[in-house]
Amino acid sequence: MPSPLSGSSVILGVTGSIACYKAADLASKLTQEGAHVDVILTQGASNFITPLTFRSLTHRPVVGDLFDPQSELAVEHVALAQRADIIIVAPATAHVLAKLAHGMADDALTATILASSAPLAVAPAMDGHMYTNPATQENLSKLRERGVTIIGPAEGYLASGLRGIGRLVEVPQIVESLCAILGRRGDLAGKSVVVSAGGTAEPIDPVRVITNRSSGKMGYAVAQAARDRGARVTMVTAPTSLPDPVGVETVHVGTALEMRDAIFRACEDGDVLIMAAAVADYRPVSVAEQKIKKGGERWSIELIKNPDILAEAPGRVLKVGFAAESQDLLENARTKLVAKGVALMVANDITAPDSGFAVDTNKVYLVDRERGVEELPLLSKYEVGHRILDRVVELLSASALS
Ligand code: C5P
Repeated sequence: MPSPLSGSSVILGVTGSIACYKAADLASKLTQEGAHVDVILTQGASNFITPLTFRSLTHRPVVGDLFDPQSELAVEHVALAQRADIIIVAPATAHVLAKLAHGMADDALTATILASSAPLAVAPAMDGHMYTNPATQENLSKLRERGVTIIGPAEGYLASGLRGIGRLVEVPQIVESLCAILGRRGDLAGKSVVVSAGGTAEPIDPVRVITNRSSGKMGYAVAQAARDRGARVTMVTAPTSLPDPVGVETVHVGTALEMRDAIFRACEDGDVLIMAAAVADYRPVSVAEQKIKKGGERWSIELIKNPDILAEAPGRVLKVGFAAESQDLLENARTKLVAKGVALMVANDITAPDSGFAVDTNKVYLVDRERGVEELPLLSKYEVGHRILDRVVELLSASALS
């Protein structure tokens, strides 16, 4: 299953802020995801950036002035409003937020928004004082109450040279927010999915840990795919270098014991548990309070077994496990399927090229009791996530019928 943006009709409203230059990147990313992007520029925005930029990136006409007979789409703005699946205003100035809060419709963008019943998201970008001004805050609350999604703003460097709140959020965050909104009515709507990710870090002393090569990419991709199908997602992650996915409740943990507690808590109202984390099988028996000093030629650390989170998780939730193996892949996966009481095992040959740790692709086999083994082609980890979730949806509906 592709991203929910693929084949969708997106209206991108661009208003007059210096952050307009980032809207060009957004238009490009949305187009690359397979969306049909219709850009509407306000008068203010066209002082910063030209329609040609967006036309070149989206391969579609750009709407400008509502009353400009030269503008191919201006007259058509109501039709555009009707066919949109989602509308995003990025950057959204304080001025356009005020107009939207009051239902004004004096240009092509605001008139189109008023004529549309598609979900609306806005990504504010402005000076910090303009943003914190009670007038802007009141307008934002009004929009939020009406179900508008407010994305950001972020803190950091502002064009005024000051630092503060008011920066347009980064483009990937906007793209992810749109996926989450478009995915709301997906086949996992109403379901609660718990995902684990990353490699646990078991401390030896205050500076050293025992960990593994897991990058967390597979777990993060599963969490994003579940979100994009409408699930309420809680992700429990060991340390990674990845940003928290948008629209996913992310719980950061360090050790296997911390991961177990967080997962069991999340499973209390969970329907599905997908354990993509590389949980350390053993941890040091004791953790030194101070940094251990260098000593003799050899040093041994006594280890004790960690609990098996997947095996111990409540049987009420549908459990999916991963088997990362370097030998006897399917044999091991079948044994773990039974031993850990899981409905589906994702067997992952970590020695295969472009597969396993750190890379964005994975080559896996799905192993379950009913169907046996299904070999998947080399796919992006996000697509692997969807293939796993296709099976989860089937297994959930089969267990609802039985
Ligand atoms: O036994 P093995 O570590 O190969 O099993 C892998 C599966 O079990 C993965 O889904 C992993 O997240 C999970 N696991 C666990 N707790 C452990 C070890 C592994 O939940 N202590």
